[in-house]
Amino acid sequence: MIIAPSLLAADFGKLTSEADRAERSGGDWLHLDIMDGHFVPNISFGPEVVSILKPQSKMFFDVHLMCSRPESLLESFLKAGADQLTIHAELDDKVPDLIWKIKNLGCKVGLALNPPTPITAAEPFLDQIDLLLVMTVNPGFGGQSFMYECLPKIQQAWDWRQSKGLGYRIEVDGGIDNITAIECSRMGADTFVSGTGLFKKRNMKQAIRKMREGVENNRKRS
Ligand code: DX5
Ligand code: ZN
Repeated sequence: MIIAPSLLAADFGKLTSEADRAERSGGDWLHLDIMDGHFVPNISFGPEVVSILKPQSKMFFDVHLMCSRPESLLESFLKAGADQLTIHAELDDKVPDLIWKIKNLGCKVGLALNPPTPITAAEPFLDQIDLLLVMTVNPGFGGQSFMYECLPKIQQAWDWRQSKGLGYRIEVDGGIDNITAIECSRMGADTFVSGTGLFKKRNMKQAIRKMREGVENNRKRS
């Protein structure tokens, strides 16, 4: 299992020490939310920030592109230090080409689904991706409540992975804390993004330890 603290909930006045706090607290991946003010109604940060953080961190950089035109950004984020680039299934016709481009750049690729998007939108790409991101809030802002109606999608993603013999990770993002992480783990999630649930805690190390314990004790088994 992987725990990925989301930098969106960090103190933006001191991003390098916040990234360091996530690493020292036992986070496995650093989740970086890129928002363009168009695909989602908010703007976060760009490749420049990622490139400042990367040399000071040993973490795997999980870059979540909430952008309408990610094709123009892929190379910049890769150069900045992204280890994985996740694009959204809602980009429809663009998806096959984007997946191909990311893989061709030698980067891991993720595909994300917003809550209203059916899981079937991901099915044609399952054998091409490294990660399937099931959003558990409508993206754009941290601190929203977990949407329980997304849980069946996690179960379907897990069933398909078993029946098709594939190896993609199943990531959840939005409203994840040590309670909702357990619900997702029971359905088959193995990668947990959490912003508010970790960065807003004074003792992040303890919060990560608790989330890890809960998830490990409630893992879905084949
Ligand atoms: C939501 C982002 C999330 C966000 C999660 O648009 O994709 O990664 O940081 O934040 P929390 O954990 O606070 O819901
Ligand atoms: Zn995210």
